[in-house]
Amino acid sequence: MARCCWLQWLTLALVACCGHAATVEHTFDVGNFSISQLCKPARVITAVNSQLPGPTIYVHEGDTVVVHVINNSPYNITIHWHGLFQRGTQWADGPEMVTQCPIRPGTRYTYQYNATGQEGTLWWHAHSSMLRATVHGAVVIKPRNGDQGYPFPKPDKEEIILLGEWWNRNVFDLEREAFLTGLLVDPADAYTINGKPGDLHKCSGSNRKPATFKLKVQSNSTYLLRIINAAVNTPMFFKIAGHKFTVVGADASYTTPYKTGVVVVAPGQTVDALMVADARPSRRYYMVASPYNSAHPNLPFREGTATAVVEYAGARRRARRPLLPPMPKFSDTATAHRFFTSLTALIRPGQPTVPLAVDTRMFVTIGLGFADCRPEQTRCKQQVFAGSMNNASFVLPTTMSLLEAHFRNVAGVYTRDFPDRPPLEFNYAKPPGNMDATTAKSTKVKTVRYNATVEVVLQNTVLVARESHPMHLHGHNFFVLAQGFGNFHEDTAVKRYNLVNPQERNTLAVPPGGWAVIRFVANNPGMWIMHCHFDAHLPIGLAMAFEVQDGPTPETALPPPPADLPQC
Ligand code: C2O
Repeated sequence: MARCCWLQWLTLALVACCGHAATVEHTFDVGNFSISQLCKPARVITAVNSQLPGPTIYVHEGDTVVVHVINNSPYNITIHWHGLFQRGTQWADGPEMVTQCPIRPGTRYTYQYNATGQEGTLWWHAHSSMLRATVHGAVVIKPRNGDQGYPFPKPDKEEIILLGEWWNRNVFDLEREAFLTGLLVDPADAYTINGKPGDLHKCSGSNRKPATFKLKVQSNSTYLLRIINAAVNTPMFFKIAGHKFTVVGADASYTTPYKTGVVVVAPGQTVDALMVADARPSRRYYMVASPYNSAHPNLPFREGTATAVVEYAGARRRARRPLLPPMPKFSDTATAHRFFTSLTALIRPGQPTVPLAVDTRMFVTIGLGFADCRPEQTRCKQQVFAGSMNNASFVLPTTMSLLEAHFRNVAGVYTRDFPDRPPLEFNYAKPPGNMDATTAKSTKVKTVRYNATVEVVLQNTVLVARESHPMHLHGHNFFVLAQGFGNFHEDTAVKRYNLVNPQERNTLAVPPGGWAVIRFVANNPGMWIMHCHFDAHLPIGLAMAFEVQDGPTPETALPPPPADLPQC
């Protein structure tokens, strides 16, 4: 073999065997796309590359991702890479007015970041207005050395199962209307699995059936299902008739294998679950996603389910209807809580475990309330629904992103007075009847030192409604030490902290009328929003932001913004 060929062969072999960071490049054309859903005439939605869900980004850990976003839609847009840390690429995180100004219609922007230090299933979605209802897709990060790097038996096949919500009306207009009136957005018209509502939906005035996703399986093969809840406002129960799951990951963190018949996934969360196709091949089986609505009193929500069909390859076709799994009731908090609290981290050598010393402690109430109408809310009568954390109802800046204001030291964009404790202590789980639920708008952040260990008790209040809020932190994973119902009591809760193998997540469904304790290391300088992943609650203020200061070295400091970052 000539020397050059030999070298080439060696490089190829190294890439194949030991992994070599590659660059994965995509072009996302965000534009209008016509789709017929629920047997209705086609209508125009905003989507990426005329796909719903949008394209999947497949990478190996350590790879570089480059995505050219071309905004051919009539709306301002940004894309957020949900769960990716963005260490060193903080400006690419994507939330509008947090790390960047929007990509204007007719313009383009290229996101570039690394998928380093995480493996599993994440996703991407629009982070401006409610466009994420249709602008979203999966991100799959495989181990550096491929499937053999999984800390569980290698599955025969992998499938993305992306749960969504569908509105017959234009979602941008819906949200705009909700803003102007101060009311909440109407419930969705249907739930979907991989963009399809499924054939259990009735199409009024027609005997056609809505589109249904089909999963073809081979008898006795093992499937890795990468389940993503991309629904806008609804946590989901997920089951497949006749089949069981072994959960092996959540939010791109491996878990101790957990066997269950039902998966529960809140908006923003992902669950990786193995499923063995070991049912009778002659039957067909429904895969069902049904709503978990913890709200009490019940705000209006969409009942019904999304279905897909699991079919065995080579089996004799039977006309019989697929088997339906019995689903938990929409209000089945016990089932949701069991699932959410049964997950623990898979301890692996070299992987970070929960820090035992805490530098910054916070106690943060989260929930709903009311605020005065703002002048821009022209159709609003006096008061609007508002979300708040420690009674501060978050508003995004309008002239400059938080990150830019932080980087350039510009005053007046945000204030550093996000409180460590609620301004008023009360019985959060059972407030007095005459409790004032009024809150005020502000842009308060909590400033933390680089590498500080931050512990936050998230306490749901039941003002307006008792509800489980899925809280998402950008730029970091956190460890979930404990969760419970009622008011948090330190002396009893501390004894229950899991300091051995707590699950690691980027989104946590705080129990309705209850609390959760999270801990994270602020090892990512920049501006990171923490917010409720219900899109109905983010724009009304159920959010705050962490300002993480620079570390001592150039590598631990926030780099300057890319030259082409969109301007406001
Ligand atoms: Cu998945 Cu701030 O969002």
